Amino acid sequence: MGKPVNIFVCQSCGSVHGKWAGRCDACGEWNALVEEVPAQSAPKSGKRRKSRAIKFVELDGETEDVPRLSTGIDELNRVTGGGFVPGSALLIGGDPGIGKSTLLLQVAGFMAQNGLQGADCKTAYISGEESTAQVKRRAKRLGLSDAPVYLAAETSLGPILDGLMVEKPNVIIIDSIQTMWTDQLGAAPGTVAQVRACAQELTRYAKKRGAVMLLVGHVTKDGQIAGPRVVEHMVDAVLYFEGDRANQFRILRAHKNRFGPTDEIGVFEMGGKGLSEVANPSALFLDGRGEAASGAAVFAGLEGTRPVLTEIQALVAPAAFGTPRRAVVGWDNGRLAMVLAVLEARCGVSFGGKDVYLNVAGGLKIAEPAADLAVAAALASSIFDKPLPADCVVFGEISLSGDVRQASRSDARLKEAAKLGFKRAIAPINQTKKPANQSNQLPIIEISTLPDLITRVEAL
Ligand code: TYD
Ligand code: MG
Repeated sequence: MGKPVNIFVCQSCGSVHGKWAGRCDACGEWNALVEEVPAQSAPKSGKRRKSRAIKFVELDGETEDVPRLSTGIDELNRVTGGGFVPGSALLIGGDPGIGKSTLLLQVAGFMAQNGLQGADCKTAYISGEESTAQVKRRAKRLGLSDAPVYLAAETSLGPILDGLMVEKPNVIIIDSIQTMWTDQLGAAPGTVAQVRACAQELTRYAKKRGAVMLLVGHVTKDGQIAGPRVVEHMVDAVLYFEGDRANQFRILRAHKNRFGPTDEIGVFEMGGKGLSEVANPSALFLDGRGEAASGAAVFAGLEGTRPVLTEIQALVAPAAFGTPRRAVVGWDNGRLAMVLAVLEARCGVSFGGKDVYLNVAGGLKIAEPAADLAVAAALASSIFDKPLPADCVVFGEISLSGDVRQASRSDARLKEAAKLGFKRAIAPINQTKKPANQSNQLPIIEISTLPDLITRVEAL
């Protein structure tokens, strides 16, 4: 048998190359190729070894509803679609220091303390980054010292799997997948090959034993889970923990979920005693709003099934340098460019020679097109220096023609705004249905085109 030929694996996307190159052809990343010894493959002989044949079943056979393990944390239950599913693997990504270890230690503690519908819930927390003493200190701070969690500090996969086989926990937390390694591979710990092999092995364990496997993954500067993007395909759900470190709010968002919706968010607040749930995020995001100032508009948004109100702030100022700046925090850059273009072309509002800054207060990232109208209102308010009424919310999607389109579930948005004390709403005309009882609805200032909105803001 010939000497095994080494391969080069990109640490960013996991693609395999025959020879070294400075730049990965597949993802364009520089200096990401690392040499690895390929795993031993089965001997190639002409005849295929006879194996067990697969069995086929019909689609409409008997199935059971997926059982759920409640996590004891409502916001986490919401994001996962009702709790963890036994026999599944989840990846929890996020920037370093955002609170992944804190959240999972709290989950482990709660589940171990409260059990599962009367039965015990064995939870294991395996830390590859911190010593057991460090984890214990953190548990003490979180008030979870007496929770019966099985704790270990280990990075080698073999002993971990052996230990799991002995204790058979229901919920297993691996913090983090990047620190795990297996001696079955020649590759160095932390490489894509190691991360992939360990995640595969752990996921297989979870499926076979009906356990819940929670894998922590770190995220790079550009928001990708470093290296183990390959892990995303293996696991049943990918949750991202986001938020900026200057704010106490943390948002847990599902990016993939084989057992539930992906548009729900869970909102947490980081405090002295770890993370606490925020049941009413709108009140939190609007907290500290002062007098009506120009450039601010309150957007009545929707995150999954839950309406969330946020303040959108815009500042339009004369450009200090030749090329005007467009800076956006919490919204899409391309979408801002589109709204600016429609404002210029359809309403004659010129942003040439002006810097435009846009910020979503509170660190929330908005992806809904219904935010268009609120952004346009904030921009118009800033450029005309006319504050919008403080008791008014805005929502609606803008099309390139300058028309304003209906947003989904406007009744839920209006109800949330009314609950928080808002008195009116700027929204598109609802052509499809008029609500029967207008009495408990917010009065709507109906807008059908963008120029409509601009004339109203100018006249304030
Ligand atoms: P951590 O969970 O270690 O982050 P990750 O595992 O995602 O890297 O979070 C650590 C941060 O959280 C750290 O900056 C301190 C802060 N923190 C609190 O503010 N309160 C607390 O009770 C705890 C445990 C941490
Ligand atoms: Mg950590």
